[in-house]
Amino acid sequence: MENTIRSLQQEILDFEIATEADLEAFRLRYTVRKGLIAALFGQLKSVDPAEKPRVGQLLNLLKQTADTKIDEAEGRLAATVNGNGKRIDMTLPGRRYFTGSEHPVQKVLGEMKQIFSAMGFGIATGPELELDEYNFDMLNFPPDHPARDMQDTFFVKSGNPGQDVLLRTHTSPVQIRVMLDNKPPMRVICPGKVYRNEAISSRSYCVFHQLEGLYIDKNVSFADLKATIYSFSKQMFGNDVKLRFRPSFFPFTEPSAEVDVTCYLCGGKGCKVCKHSGWLEIMGCGMVHPNVMRNCGIDPETWSGYAFGMGVDRTVLLRYKIDDIRLLFENDLRMLKQFTA
Ligand code: PHE
Repeated sequence: MENTIRSLQQEILDFEIATEADLEAFRLRYTVRKGLIAALFGQLKSVDPAEKPRVGQLLNLLKQTADTKIDEAEGRLAATVNGNGKRIDMTLPGRRYFTGSEHPVQKVLGEMKQIFSAMGFGIATGPELELDEYNFDMLNFPPDHPARDMQDTFFVKSGNPGQDVLLRTHTSPVQIRVMLDNKPPMRVICPGKVYRNEAISSRSYCVFHQLEGLYIDKNVSFADLKATIYSFSKQMFGNDVKLRFRPSFFPFTEPSAEVDVTCYLCGGKGCKVCKHSGWLEIMGCGMVHPNVMRNCGIDPETWSGYAFGMGVDRTVLLRYKIDDIRLLFENDLRMLKQFTA
């Protein structure tokens, strides 16, 4: 028996385990319940009692040798091979992947959406490639309005009259889509990207974000518009913010206004950002023009409404102290990583 054990010991030491299949063969031959080692343990009871301790010790050693060999082979095979024939060490800790984070524009838009949805506004979206008809005509732009000029608008394709396709220059065409698709009353905001062919600088870019608002109901007045903008501004820019409505003009609203808030960097004292005026312009707004309502099949004798359109990017730049609007569109990970939660 002793000789059998010794030769088995040698056999085990010489056994080459190069693959998973070798390892399995090794196990089956030596260490499973019906393997050679177990069989030898079975024979131990017929060994001369005087010899038993020594033979037992040898057998234990044999078992240990086999177990160690299996451990070693398992570790080695785990450092396995990938498709390119390269060894991969499966025991190495995994690589940390960069987890994405919300873009600063989306963070600010998210806040704006939350404020308006608490006031009962739903959310509507429209395409960035828009019909000339929706971007201009139906919004009561006269045919020769300067905003249509090639200088401002990226025209994409000219088609039949009214069917020209362009990159929308504002989110107001979404108003048209909402009014065509729904019956009043309606109350929505429309966030999105808009495009203008402007000289690119740290302050203006060919694409930026707007958030449009539209409310149509019976007896809506300019006072309702003011109250909504006030409430929004306090929540967005702080309780102490002051507002200034300046008369203005848009073809699709009458009367129209532009809204300034006290500069929330200097609190209205005057600084570089507000060009020492103490005020920052945040949006255009007004009462929806009767022509626009009629264009969409809504009777302006029965219904009235207001609309506003605010710029989003400037608020983002100020909020996060970013000094170049282009950084918002370049997708530079070094910039974006600073916004991981
Ligand atoms: N669409 C206008 C702009 O881009 C803003 C606006 C929207 C004004 C709604 C009045 C009403 O400047």
